[in-house]
Amino acid sequence: MDDLRARITKDGIRIYEDADFAGMRAAGRVAAEILDAVAPLVVPGTTTAVIDDFITDEIRRRGVTSATIGYKGYKHASCISVNHVVCHGIPGQKLLMDGDILNVDVTVIVDGWYGDTSRMYVAGQLARKAERLIEVTHEGLMRGIAAVKPGNTFGDIGYAIQAYVEAQRMSVVRDFCGHGLGRVFHAPPNVLHYGRAGAGPVLEEGMFFTIEPMVNLGRPETKVLADDWTAVTRDKSLSAQFEHSVGVTATGCEIFTQSPAGKFHPTWG
Ligand code: MF3
Ligand code: CO
Ligand code: CO
Repeated sequence: MDDLRARITKDGIRIYEDADFAGMRAAGRVAAEILDAVAPLVVPGTTTAVIDDFITDEIRRRGVTSATIGYKGYKHASCISVNHVVCHGIPGQKLLMDGDILNVDVTVIVDGWYGDTSRMYVAGQLARKAERLIEVTHEGLMRGIAAVKPGNTFGDIGYAIQAYVEAQRMSVVRDFCGHGLGRVFHAPPNVLHYGRAGAGPVLEEGMFFTIEPMVNLGRPETKVLADDWTAVTRDKSLSAQFEHSVGVTATGCEIFTQSPAGKFHPTWG
């Protein structure tokens, strides 16, 4: 049951207890381990449905629960977003081609706690421009995470990401954001990946949320396809995304979804 004495800030953000970090650590670890296990499957000639079936099996084998199957009518254990798909790509029968880049996003529930993470993969050979996009997106996430500490604001996180990404002549997607999570999938606040330093709610120890910037090589605008899920870049430019679930500590933050195998970035491990 939910703790009725739990503190909620004036912005509606729940402050979790020290003991709750262990729950998030366990959930984040399972999600990250599953993404580690996906890496060898991403090859030219396979399909995103094969990858999603593998993730469904891994979730079952570990005795945990998919947060996305049944969520608002979504039917899959992952979102797989290829090339100009920004997010919420639906796994399917399309063959991966040499040089395709893809984000795989998995959320699991472990003992009631949500672990939400996504990262980029490449099928075959990584092209120079795609590699640069992935590098900048990953660095943008890490700069956002570096801004997480008590006393800073959510605007500081968005500003850190946006300032870096735009200096690299790429764009930050505005239409999707990170989110609070914990014993729920999506909770306040909206974690924007752009913004002004000092704006937004103040970060406090015990806040749990995701940071999940989407970065485009071209313009930031997106549109959602007729399937009501798949978001693509309007100008068809390549898009990348990385996502971590984090918790604010006394001095900074803990990343709950670190890759145990050190494979968070496609050129690592
Ligand atoms: N995991 C996604 C996020 O980062 C949400 C996916 S919802 C789904 O918030 F229904 F599309 F799976
Ligand atoms: Co998320
Ligand atoms: Co996610």
